[in-house]
Amino acid sequence: MPTRIPIRRRFRRISLVITLLAVPAVGAQPPVTAVVSGAFTDEQAARGEKIFGGKCAECHEKKDVTNPDFRKKWNGRTARDLYELIRTTMPDDNPGSMTPDEYLDIVTYLLKVNGLPSGTTLLVADSTMLSATKLDFPPSAAPPSQR
Ligand code: HEC
Repeated sequence: MPTRIPIRRRFRRISLVITLLAVPAVGAQPPVTAVVSGAFTDEQAARGEKIFGGKCAECHEKKDVTNPDFRKKWNGRTARDLYELIRTTMPDDNPGSMTPDEYLDIVTYLLKVNGLPSGTTLLVADSTMLSATKLDFPPSAAPPSQR
């Protein structure tokens, strides 16, 4: 299935910076994957931070999901992979108990604390958009705006 970049959202102007990255062809993977920068807002990530503090922090310290191993593990996968993992398995003691938007907010928080730039577009729980958002974490985590 070709990767489609959602440029059809009706009510907001899309101002995504989209970089097309050639990925070495491996097996049946699509040859080109979109990296979408600024695909979430600071507000969304701030909501995610609060939810993380309330629902996840009892088992996870922030550093569990912001360390180099975490980034290495998730680099090259998509926001959808991360979203689906969290949505279907977390919180560990009550998976699937939160709303899609809450899971999405947490994902944007994780993108932000792992160094991906925020922007003016909300990340939405649209599988096309999530699938097109390839995780491409910088080697050092903190975005310039944070510490
Ligand atoms: C009751 C404890 C508990 C809670 C609450 C919990 N988790 Fe987890 N989480 C775990 C355990 C245990 C694992 C390891 C599971 C495994 O590896 O099979 C895990 C694994 C993960 C992973 C995979 C880590 C990796 O290295 O890829 C992520 C991401 C994650 N949790 C996110 C969350 C988020 C987000 C929340 C809040 C919505 C949450 N967890 C709440 C216990 C918990």
